[in-house]
Amino acid sequence: MQVIIFDDAQQVAANAAEWVAELINKKPNPVLGLATGSTPISLYQQLVNKHQTDQLSFKNVISFNLDEYLGIDANNAQSYRHFMNVHLFDHVDIDKNKTYLPICAQGENPREQGLAYEEKIKQANGVDLQILGIGANGHIGFNEPTSSLASRTRIKTLTQQTLTDNSRLFDDNEFQPTLAMTMGIATILDARYVLLMATGENKAQAVKNMVAGPLSAMCPASALQMHENAIVLLDKAAASQLDDQEYYQWANDQNIKINQEFGLYHNY
Ligand code: PGA
Repeated sequence: MQVIIFDDAQQVAANAAEWVAELINKKPNPVLGLATGSTPISLYQQLVNKHQTDQLSFKNVISFNLDEYLGIDANNAQSYRHFMNVHLFDHVDIDKNKTYLPICAQGENPREQGLAYEEKIKQANGVDLQILGIGANGHIGFNEPTSSLASRTRIKTLTQQTLTDNSRLFDDNEFQPTLAMTMGIATILDARYVLLMATGENKAQAVKNMVAGPLSAMCPASALQMHENAIVLLDKAAASQLDDQEYYQWANDQNIKINQEFGLYHNY
């Protein structure tokens, strides 16, 4: 796991945007794994900005989102399809027919839809770069604590903590879904690179459990310890409970030197 600590959330977003831009510029048919939530919003702003000012083109990008609520449709302002449209897709030249979310409409069989989503990812030759946030309870996607580390796209019941954390986004008498379809942990681990962004003090404990805790279904993000190319971008507040902050800084300086000497090497 490569842990990189930045001064603030804007720098985290700027660095994440560099990763995405590098992939898009390098690979003819890049496959992006996308996330929703408050954290990646500033990444998407940076990408829109790059599209407008640096001509970063999304026209060959295929994307797969981590998760989608059950019980609301794509036109609902709370759906993650809507979130992606508003924060990214409507502002760049991506072909929306090649942007996928794990949707399970009313009456559809979630098991079949989960399998179909896995199949669709395979047909696209897998995810090159998966963007991730982390829940205060250590979830990635909607893989809540106790999720199987071998899980695949399926329905999850959200925990009370996640419902409470996300209730800020819902009006008082608005329907807040308690179920979601989510990529599984094994699905996420299949991505060639994973880029996890975490900012703010309220993520510090989950970050510590992910980076330095035991590999455990109680902290689903700890599964990233098993990934060959997991990059964790943190602001100082999210990193504040890590014991080895100086080591991460030093190791990162060495990486920068190696990249300067031998060039940036990402094996997409
Ligand atoms: P947040 O959510 O970015 O809104 O904090 C992250 C997550 O739950 O994965």
